[in-house]
Amino acid sequence: MYGLDSQAVHAGRADLAALGVHVPPLDLSSTSPLPDVESGGDSYESMALGGEPTAGGNVYARLWNPTVARFEEALAQLEGCDKAVAFSSGMAAVTACLLAAAAEGRRHVVAVRPLYGGTDHLLATGLLGTEVTYAPADGISGALRPDTGLVIVETPANPTLELVDLTAVAEQAGDVPVLVDNTFATPVLQQPARHGATLVLHSATKFVGGHGDVVAGAVATTVEWAARLRRVRAVTGGILHPLGAYMLHRGLQTLPVRVRAQQEGARAVAAWLAERPEVERVYYPGLPECDPQSLVGRQMSGPGSLLAFEVAGGYDAAARTAASCRMITHAVSLGGVDSLIQHPASLTHRPVEPHARPAAAVLRLSVGLENPEDVCADLESALKEVR
Ligand SMILES: Cc1ncc(COP(=O)(O)O)c(C=O)c1O
Repeated sequence: MYGLDSQAVHAGRADLAALGVHVPPLDLSSTSPLPDVESGGDSYESMALGGEPTAGGNVYARLWNPTVARFEEALAQLEGCDKAVAFSSGMAAVTACLLAAAAEGRRHVVAVRPLYGGTDHLLATGLLGTEVTYAPADGISGALRPDTGLVIVETPANPTLELVDLTAVAEQAGDVPVLVDNTFATPVLQQPARHGATLVLHSATKFVGGHGDVVAGAVATTVEWAARLRRVRAVTGGILHPLGAYMLHRGLQTLPVRVRAQQEGARAVAAWLAERPEVERVYYPGLPECDPQSLVGRQMSGPGSLLAFEVAGGYDAAARTAASCRMITHAVSLGGVDSLIQHPASLTHRPVEPHARPAAAVLRLSVGLENPEDVCADLESALKEVR
């Protein structure tokens, strides 16, 4: 088996030479000509039940698209999973996982906070008919019920980068599938399936795309779960457009290089922030106090490029800092080539119940590919304006 960087470049492309092309074909068909009624019908049935197309072909693009399937194959390989299923957004991916568990009669979820605000909100409101128990990472076994269908964790968690020991979570979960949101780490830094996760979820909008121009989600998983998720996707329609899949597949080729380079930038920025008098606290898995279980090096190969920090002066100071950055874009989202800063309590985590919301002084920073000294200089001038 090739190393991860080689896999990132070549995954999902094994047949290209035989096709006589150098880059994947982009199939934009919404429907496909049927060889005959019978085989078309057979293929339809296979896909409607979560399977793959048979001799009758792709039939209809809500059921199957070859460009999307290529991206799925590549992501599954990088995550060390059998299959992956792509969706129109990260939240569509979360939704499909919840609906697939509920379809088995398991409507209860155990979740570890913090989580991305949208995921937290979806669980807390029970909008899909699910019920959640929030538990600390070492209290999962006590929160399980006979109808628990999923244990959901994020590590590093959005927005304050808490790390969760996945092996310990999987041990506690027992037979209950563990869903790990791997958006922040990417398979370059962490492959949750190797630590007991059954479902590895991405907001592919972030690092996988990497350039801020695709909204997408994906779940890498087992053959059995992939079929369940495809079945949900086929009937609910949360499909990824093939153009998005094409761009994500291309994004995967540079994922390892981007993730490592952004990580080097973030290390420098975190160290710089930790010395600033205007900054009361820095959250970054590369700082020893943020990784008490020494999971970096054991579970993750590096601390990544997301960090958060608390500005002295509370909400007003944090809000002014975010708004005063010039090179760093004041915007939600993360994981792209350009640095982004945002105030989680007001934006990404606004729908979270007040007691579980991030502190008002916290800002989240996604470090991009700019020179770290320019990122620090921008932050310095923003912090000075606040002073
Ligand atoms: C960790 C995490 N998971 C899931 C999501 C949801 O993904 P999307 O915005 O692609 O729906 C996000 C979005 O920010 C996220 O940060």
